[in-house]
Amino acid sequence: MKMDLCELSPSYVRSIAPYQPGKPISELAREMGLDERAIVKLASNENPRGIGPRTRAAIEAAIGDVARYPDGNGFELKQALAKRYHVDAASIVLGNGSNDVLELLALAFLGPGRAAVLSQHAFAVYPLATQARGARSIVVPAKDYGHDLEAMARAIDDETYVAWIANPNNPTGTFARHGEIEAFLKRVPERVLVVMDEAYNEYLTPDLRGDSVKLLKRHPNLVVTRTFSKAYGLAGLRVGYALAHASVADVMNRVRQPFNVNSIALAAAVAALDDMEFVARSYAENLQGLRQLEEGARGLGLEYIPSHGNFLTIRVGKAGETYKRLLRRGVIVRPVGGGYGLPEHLRVTVGTAAENERFLAALAASLKE
Ligand SMILES: Cc1ncc(COP(=O)(O)O)c(C=O)c1O
Repeated sequence: MKMDLCELSPSYVRSIAPYQPGKPISELAREMGLDERAIVKLASNENPRGIGPRTRAAIEAAIGDVARYPDGNGFELKQALAKRYHVDAASIVLGNGSNDVLELLALAFLGPGRAAVLSQHAFAVYPLATQARGARSIVVPAKDYGHDLEAMARAIDDETYVAWIANPNNPTGTFARHGEIEAFLKRVPERVLVVMDEAYNEYLTPDLRGDSVKLLKRHPNLVVTRTFSKAYGLAGLRVGYALAHASVADVMNRVRQPFNVNSIALAAAVAALDDMEFVARSYAENLQGLRQLEEGARGLGLEYIPSHGNFLTIRVGKAGETYKRLLRRGVIVRPVGGGYGLPEHLRVTVGTAAENERFLAALAASLKE
């Protein structure tokens, strides 16, 4: 065959640089001939606590039903979420992780001739999802590593239909407060969907967690997305959701795969949502771990970006080199150069106290090399 089949794909798809996930433990073990148990992975902002006993029991109970298709409407999970957040079930869209929900938003509201506005250093999926639909990304320079919402509002043009906002943002951990968000919502045209990606919401202090849901009633163009991958500990099962105006949810549901969330994930999410104690402990232990990492970084004379998430982004200088040295010591973190424009930083997920200690010791040794 003479033709390069890749050429058949639209040019905007061909020019996508794939998302770089954190290196899996098994891959590093294979590459370095290391024992998997000796490897610490702090590269994907997962919950080091695993899952609680009630969630585990729900998963085990759901296994018996895997021969059947899941409930494509996710009735039980939507009911539980509707009750928790005092919203209508018709305004909830479930996804195979919140990443899926972000893709559904792009699929439903972006396309050639349209644009989305986003911040420099924002979560890498936004430009990917935008480009995959043939839409244009308007990237606005960050302010103190965070979203410059005033500049983002100014950057909106006639073709802009989506504003992506990660709050807190990954990988910078920056957070825009309620007042700033509300001022942004008041400024943007109604036509622009404001997507507030709150994957790390449960790691915020409790008084800051609920604010955006209250804004939904006043701003029909606001969409809030959240996930069970982080504080709830279900990253491997893939469940996330969007809270939106019912007509936005309706369009998203039209482009959704009929069974996009699997039955074990649905059952696990219902149980996890109910286990508030697990989330409270995840929050408290994360805070302790963050302080441990901050103190360790300061002890090594390193700057870091103050974080509202379950990760800390530390300025190490030659990050690519340090990343490789850490790998040789069996510690996986995340370089944030290429896709994120932070070539001197490394992002480290808050692990258990022992994992954090292991990382800090490996970092100290790597910097001396
Ligand atoms: C800001 C942000 N949004 C969304 C996601 C997607 O997570 P998931 O698809 O597991 O819900 C992540 C994952 O790291 C994230 O950091």
